Amino acid sequence: MKKIWITDEVLNLLRTMPICDVARQYRWNRNSLSKALRRHRKKELRILKGVEVVPTIELPEPVYPKDARVLIIGDRHSPFSHKKYFEFVCRTRDQFQCDTIVDIGDGLDGHAWSYHEHNPDGYSAGKELQRAREDHDKWYKEFPNVFCCWGNHDELLYRKARTHGLPRNAFKDVKDIMGAPSGWHWAFKWEIDHVIYMHGTGKSGMNAHITWASKNRQSTVIGHVHSHLGVKYMASEKDLIFGMNVGCGLDIKSYAMEYGKDFAERPTLGCGVVLNGKIGIPVPMDLGTKIFFTGDKNEK
Ligand SMILES: [Fe+2]
Ligand SMILES: [Fe+2]
Repeated sequence: MKKIWITDEVLNLLRTMPICDVARQYRWNRNSLSKALRRHRKKELRILKGVEVVPTIELPEPVYPKDARVLIIGDRHSPFSHKKYFEFVCRTRDQFQCDTIVDIGDGLDGHAWSYHEHNPDGYSAGKELQRAREDHDKWYKEFPNVFCCWGNHDELLYRKARTHGLPRNAFKDVKDIMGAPSGWHWAFKWEIDHVIYMHGTGKSGMNAHITWASKNRQSTVIGHVHSHLGVKYMASEKDLIFGMNVGCGLDIKSYAMEYGKDFAERPTLGCGVVLNGKIGIPVPMDLGTKIFFTGDKNEK
């Protein structure tokens, strides 16, 4: 079989052409090229630094490949996420051949222990956490290594503890609470290929993503603003940066999302991809017709 060398020339071509076209150009088998690429990326691992807001137990530092192809999972608010969101995210990862996964935060909803009014017909706090953990099992299997950003909903458990004067050390680490595998890491923000990944708590509206990028003076990817999904670029004499909001994966029909039922702006379901720290791609989830999720009797 013809030996495949992953040279800079090949990598440059892969930035602009689909992998099948590159394979054809060199007369290589597409799957062999894909395997060679994975081997090459493993060799070029770099240390990833995250900034933790809630102290966690000592762990080996996570690593990510050079020139990463990052998939960003939106706010899932488990166990109240859309039933097709997981499948959509897996498909997007395969479509863009992502090798690095970021969860943008609010993976957990916490309706039962939030500061808001609770639905008396909903789950108890214990049951909701149990359902969220069960819901996460499939994510853990499919995505064994994930860099999670702290979302305002993820922090609710610790905030409640603080409100009642309980010290942080009285509580388990989030990894134990969520039953997550060793490859899942939580931090306030992550930086990969000079792009900042953070939940985005504190800003809202359709321009929150570019506002964050402008404040950070660096390309920035956020979630948090459920009603928008998109990317905006901004250039100066010195650089070109982008802000991207990856949307969310929540289920508007669930009782935990009842507060938004009268809002004119509906959740925009989607996820995101960042290639080599340069190109931000917001990927909307196809919900078929609008009727599908606005409460019509035909909804599935
Ligand atoms: Fe959220
Ligand atoms: Fe949020």
